[in-house]
Amino acid sequence: MFTPRPIGFVTSPYKDTVAIPKGLGARHEAEGVLRILPEFDLGLAGIEGFSHLFVLWVFDRSGPFELTATPPSDNQPHGVFATRSPRRPNPIGLTVVELLRREKGSLYVRGVDMLDQTPILDIKPYLSSIPAESLRRGWLAEAEALKH
Ligand SMILES: C[S@@+](CC[C@H](N)C(=O)[O-])C[C@H]1O[C@@H](n2cnc3c(N)ncnc32)[C@H](O)[C@@H]1O
Repeated sequence: MFTPRPIGFVTSPYKDTVAIPKGLGARHEAEGVLRILPEFDLGLAGIEGFSHLFVLWVFDRSGPFELTATPPSDNQPHGVFATRSPRRPNPIGLTVVELLRREKGSLYVRGVDMLDQTPILDIKPYLSSIPAESLRRGWLAEAEALKH
């Protein structure tokens, strides 16, 4: 194993979790900045060409993990690995953001759902080759169907 270290920190409009949209139909339109530490600057070469990025980050302000979670989009508990709960054995978050522009080590993005100053572990270009019709959405599809 390895000891993870932040490659940077998120500047986000969210100072408190209550302000972050949650539940069915929540839209993540908030803009933020991924501020990458200068020592990793060279690692950003070519990133401007990608419209969307995967951001891996740390839930640095979550409680202890629980193996089941009841998400805001449902009233039933589910296994933590079938949810996006912050309270996971390895508290790692994954968010897809739209890259708006780069200014040196600052990536201006849309779609942040993390708190201000959240540590960033990694960034990768978003590439998906799975057609929408091949995706199954598990319990979430049932919760969505009940809502409509
Ligand atoms: C449901 S999680 C989903 C995060 C990510 N998109 C994922 O799927 O891993 C998003 C919630 O995590 C919480 N959160 C955001 N930043 C956090 C942080 N730095 N530490 C702990 N909890 C955080 C907020 O309550 C936010 O609504």
